[in-house]
Amino acid sequence: MIEISKLNKYYKVGKGKMHALKDIDLTVNDGESLAIQGKSGAGKSTLMHIIGLLDNYDSGSLKIDGQEVKGLSDGKLAKLRNEKIGFVMQDFSLLDHKTVIMNVMLPLFFNHKYSFSKMRKLALEALDRVGIKDQAEKKANQLSGGQRQRVAIARAIISSPQIILADEPTGALDSETSVEIMELLKELNANSGITLIVITHDDSVADYCERKIIIKDGSIIS
Ligand SMILES: Nc1ncnc2c1ncn2[C@@H]1O[C@H](COP(=O)(O)OP(=O)(O)O)[C@@H](O)[C@H]1O
Ligand SMILES: [Mg+2]
Repeated sequence: MIEISKLNKYYKVGKGKMHALKDIDLTVNDGESLAIQGKSGAGKSTLMHIIGLLDNYDSGSLKIDGQEVKGLSDGKLAKLRNEKIGFVMQDFSLLDHKTVIMNVMLPLFFNHKYSFSKMRKLALEALDRVGIKDQAEKKANQLSGGQRQRVAIARAIISSPQIILADEPTGALDSETSVEIMELLKELNANSGITLIVITHDDSVADYCERKIIIKDGSIIS
């Protein structure tokens, strides 16, 4: 469960500061699907980076499964992030010249838990789960946009995360492929119980989620 209360975030700009998130209160239950909507510059990515333990905040509280995040060491944050959170980005963020299977295995290299053959096995299972096991040995840049986003989703789920954070996951895809990707994310949410948080400015993408919030100028307005 994600519990955010009275959270504020400022960015330094020149000599002043910019109030990017204002008294955010938000609880996301396990297994929920949530769309975060709002115009460009509203603060959506800032909120996602904070929930994803990629950025800090200035006041208020963020708890993940009851654990207050503020004050945790970088090592603890990295461990928590690696265990609990999978990221899916608009630009896929793949290593283009590496094979699909290497891209998917990547998160497992950081937790030093598995042998290489076990990592390969888990990566093939994740690729199977997203329907592109047959593409495993291709270079990432040989795939279509939709296939590349599937690789990113396989990479996001390989550590069996509790939460998927997707920032404009369909932003670089045509509308037909967008539907396929959202159906896949929704299916992972429904059948694997993974909490799904999707940032989007597209209503038809947000419609895949049970709950929608809108951010405007750093505040949740609905
Ligand atoms: N690293 C940064 N330094 C200064 N200002 C930033 C930084 N990142 C984002 N901002 C500003 O914070 C506001 C919210 O940005 P962001 O969270 O990226 O919005 P969104 O994802 O909704 O488009 C914007 O006004 C943006 O210019
Ligand atoms: Mg953004």
